[in-house]
Amino acid sequence: MKIAVAGTGYVGLSVALLLSQHNEVHALDIVPEKVAMLSQGKSPIVDKEITAFLEGNASGERPLNFHATLDPAQAYTGADFAIVATPTNYDERRNYFDTSSVEAAIAAVREHAPEAWIVIKSTIPVGYTSQLRQRLHDHRILFSPEFLREGRALWDNLHPSRIVAGAPQDDEEAVQAARKFVSLLADGADPREKDRENADGTRGIPELVVGTTEAEAIKLFANTYLALRVAYFNELDTYAEARGLDARAIINGVCLDPRIGPGYNNPSFGYGGYCLPKDTKQLLANYASVPQNLIEAIVDANRTRKDFVADEIIERVRGVEEPTVGIYRLTMKSGSDNFRQSAIQDVMKRLRGEGLNVLIYEPTWNQPEFLGNAVTHDLAAFKNVADVIVANRWNDDLADVSEKVFTRDLFKRD
Ligand SMILES: NC(=O)c1ccc[n+]([C@@H]2O[C@H](COP(=O)([O-])OP(=O)(O)OC[C@H]3O[C@@H](n4cnc5c(N)ncnc54)[C@H](O)[C@@H]3O)[C@@H](O)[C@H]2O)c1
Repeated sequence: MKIAVAGTGYVGLSVALLLSQHNEVHALDIVPEKVAMLSQGKSPIVDKEITAFLEGNASGERPLNFHATLDPAQAYTGADFAIVATPTNYDERRNYFDTSSVEAAIAAVREHAPEAWIVIKSTIPVGYTSQLRQRLHDHRILFSPEFLREGRALWDNLHPSRIVAGAPQDDEEAVQAARKFVSLLADGADPREKDRENADGTRGIPELVVGTTEAEAIKLFANTYLALRVAYFNELDTYAEARGLDARAIINGVCLDPRIGPGYNNPSFGYGGYCLPKDTKQLLANYASVPQNLIEAIVDANRTRKDFVADEIIERVRGVEEPTVGIYRLTMKSGSDNFRQSAIQDVMKRLRGEGLNVLIYEPTWNQPEFLGNAVTHDLAAFKNVADVIVANRWNDDLADVSEKVFTRDLFKRD
C-alpha cells in the first residue's frame, strides 16, 4: 500500500514512521531543511522513538519503507491514502482555526491523486470535514483524530489509547475506507498491544469508526477535558498558596478517590503547548449559541492562573533594587524541545509589563533575545545573576540555588 503524509511535524512524522513498517510511505514537507534532515536519517524533533526509528533505518538495522520528499508528484501520485498533518493554528482575529494549510495540502494531493482517500489528522473545528466534503464535492475525505503527546509522539502511536476514524455513517464506501485506515494504524502498533487488558475489561486497542463530526468532537472534547483537569489542580494550588496550605497534601488526598484518580494533577503555570490553548478556544467557538458555562471557564481559568503566578513572582522580588527575574527554560515539559504557547511566555509578558528585567536560560534557543528578553546559555552566570529563578518544571540543575527557585512543580514530574 502506498501512503503519503503531508507535514512532517510531531503528528505527520510519527504516523509516517509507524506506517512505514508495513507500507511504502512518502512524507512531504514544504520546509527543505526538515526533508534534508529526514533523508539523512536525522530527526528534526526531540523524540526518542522517532530518533531510534530514523537512525535504525539509516543504518539498515530497522528497514523501513520511508521516504521524505519536497516533491508532491513523488509523494502523492498513486497513493492509496494521503494523510494530512499540517498546522491548524488558532486565528485570534477570526476566532477560529486557520485551516488553510490543510486545504492547501488537500488541493496538492488531489492534483496528483484524484482517487486517494484523504485522511485529515490535523485537529480541525467540529463539523469541518462534512462541510469540506460538500464544498469540494469530494467524498473521499475522512478524519482521524490524533491523541499523541509531544516528546512521546511515536511511542503514543505504538501504544495508542484508542484509534478513532470518522466517516459519514451513511456512506458505506467511506466507512470501509475508515475501517481500513484504522487497521493500518493498528498493524503498526506494538504487537503486544493486541493482548493488553483495558480498564473496562476489554482486550486490545479500542477501535472506533464514527461520524466525521463525532470524531472531531471526540478530539476537541478530550483535549478540553485535559485542560479542565490541569486548570482544576492549578486552581486548587492557587487556593492553597493564597491560604498558606499544603497543596501537595490536598492533591494527594483528593486523588486517592478512584473516580478522580492519580496523574495529570501536578500544578503548573497554566496549560500550554501547541494544542490545549487553541483546542479549548476552538471548542468554545464551536459552541456559538449552544448554552455553556464550563468551556468558557476553562479558557478563562488559564488566564487567571498565569496572572496569579506573575503576581507571586512580583511579590518575591518586591523591595529588591532593579531585580532580575530568571526564567529557567521556555519549554512546557521537561524533556521537550518545544515551547509553542508555553504558559511561561504569558507570565513573562506580565513581568515585562511591570518593568522587571527578565533573563531567560534556554539552551535550545539560538538567538540573543526572545520576545524582547535577553537569552543566555550560561547556566552558572544565569544562576548567579537572577534574584528569583522561575521554573515551570523543576530540574536538578537548580539544586544548588533551590532557595531562589519559584516553581509549582510539586511532584517533580510532568
Ligand atoms: N503536536 C501535538 O501534540 C498534536 C497532537 C494531536 C494533534 N495535533 C494536531 O496535528 C496538526 C499538526 O500538528 P504538529 O504538532 O504535527 O505540527 P508541526 O508544526 O510540528 O508540523 C506541521 C508540519 O506541516 C508542514 N506543512 C505546513 N504546510 C504544509 C503543506 N501545505 N504541505 C505539507 N506540509 C506542510 C510544516 O512545515 C510542518 O513541518 C495540528 O492540527 C495539531 O493541532 C498535534
